[in-house]
Amino acid sequence: MGKTSTYVARDPDASGFIHYPEAEHAIWNTLITRQLDAIQGKACDEYLAGLDQLKLPHDRIPQLDEVNRVLARTTGWQVAQVPALISFDHFFKLLANKAFPVATFIRRPEELDYLQEPDIFHEIFGHCPLLTNPAFAAFTHTYGQLGYKASKEERVYLARLYWFTVEFGITRTAQDKMRIYGGGILSSIGETDYCFNSDARAIEAFDLLSVLRTPYRIDIMQPVYYLLDHFDQLFELSKLDLLDYVRQARQLGLLPARFPPKEAAAS
Ligand SMILES: [Fe+2]
Repeated sequence: MGKTSTYVARDPDASGFIHYPEAEHAIWNTLITRQLDAIQGKACDEYLAGLDQLKLPHDRIPQLDEVNRVLARTTGWQVAQVPALISFDHFFKLLANKAFPVATFIRRPEELDYLQEPDIFHEIFGHCPLLTNPAFAAFTHTYGQLGYKASKEERVYLARLYWFTVEFGITRTAQDKMRIYGGGILSSIGETDYCFNSDARAIEAFDLLSVLRTPYRIDIMQPVYYLLDHFDQLFELSKLDLLDYVRQARQLGLLPARFPPKEAAAS
């Protein structure tokens, strides 16, 4: 968002159908096949239940209306077709209206493992299963409503909440196991493994003020993940006065970064 992309989203034809070349369906097939394997024993039950409901095709990129039929009957959400990158205003407005943005392009073969722009595989495979879950849907809706009203400065703090939940969230199960619910992890083969197995990352108990104060980078594996006590904690979060927490976080300031500055890392 706010940047430029080398990808262009595909537009639907007059009947609303989006045509993708065979090579792009093949990329979807590769991504979903290997990721379904990678998330075994790592994705949370709520996500897997959503995946069961969606019944995503393996051999082709799904059409948005297929996903919408399932979202409509589960939580009333929809996906909305957008260009490759959209403004924060557009993003928050969509969420506030229970519409989840999906850019209708898929990554190139050379970016199979990692790309910074969210493509259709990230949005649909990573996020849409949980949009069938009432607690996740309520949290995301509240988040969108708050973000739409928030100032530019408040949005910077709210973005961290989204980052450490919807994108890179992990949760404890009733059996005291760690499981992933963040779509940024679940759509990335490298980060799914890293989150579970790397010694380089920290796992911290979810603390709202700490989350709002934690700097992050979008171009590296995350140095820290925040662990919910239980998945429905997201619903509890949606009932809090989040902007009051943002005010407190702004007063306290950022926590020290756990990563090197981008310039130093690139040199
Ligand atoms: Fe995402």
